[in-house]
Amino acid sequence: MNIITFDSDAKLNEAAANIIVGQIQTIPRAVLGLATGGTPVGIYKEIVRDYERGMVSFRNVTTFNLDEYVNLPIDHPESYHSYMNANLFSHIDLPESQRHIPDGNAADLEAECRRYDEAIELSGQIDLQLLGLGHNGHIGFNEPAHALIKGTHIVELAEKTREANARFFDSIDDVPKQALTMGVGTILKAKKILLVVKGADKADIIREALQGPITTDVPASLLQTHPNLIVLLDSAAAGKLA
Ligand code: PGA
Repeated sequence: MNIITFDSDAKLNEAAANIIVGQIQTIPRAVLGLATGGTPVGIYKEIVRDYERGMVSFRNVTTFNLDEYVNLPIDHPESYHSYMNANLFSHIDLPESQRHIPDGNAADLEAECRRYDEAIELSGQIDLQLLGLGHNGHIGFNEPAHALIKGTHIVELAEKTREANARFFDSIDDVPKQALTMGVGTILKAKKILLVVKGADKADIIREALQGPITTDVPASLLQTHPNLIVLLDSAAAGKLA
């Protein structure tokens, strides 16, 4: 595991973008696993800047997002479809047919989960998976549980997750109660994982995830088993590491 700490948000975002853009420069047909939430917004801005400077093309890239809410209309401003369009997809040359996000409005959600896993399998392995970290240790929407599920599945969102995400909605009652998420098995199969964590409010959970026991109570702790994990932290998030 390679942990790098940054004293500014700008430097952290630039470093994360460099890793992602570098991956595409090395493998133009790269398969990327993408994340949503507050953490990657600045990283996507940097990537768009690199694209506008002509440093990278997404023409041959394929992307798979980690998750999507269930029953939130696709054009709702807080759907992850809208998020990805606003923050990245509408600004770059990634063909629509090569962008994948689970369909939380599918009539048969179980079938949609199987379809999503098959699409990931068909693309080959994910070369680089970008991850944020939930306050409860979740990755994607894999919430703490007695057992974790390998593939894409329907998940009941933890209260802590709904509270954290309420800031994006008018009220917590508007935050969906379910989501579809890639499973930890798929996440761990990625060839390289880039975990990005920002803020003092995540200092305790990142310490547990990286330096505590490996337990399904902290899904991110499973990342300790990954052979190619890069962790980028701001100094606030790194504040409690041993
Ligand atoms: P955040 O979410 O980036 O909005 O803090 C991270 C996550 O829940 O995975």
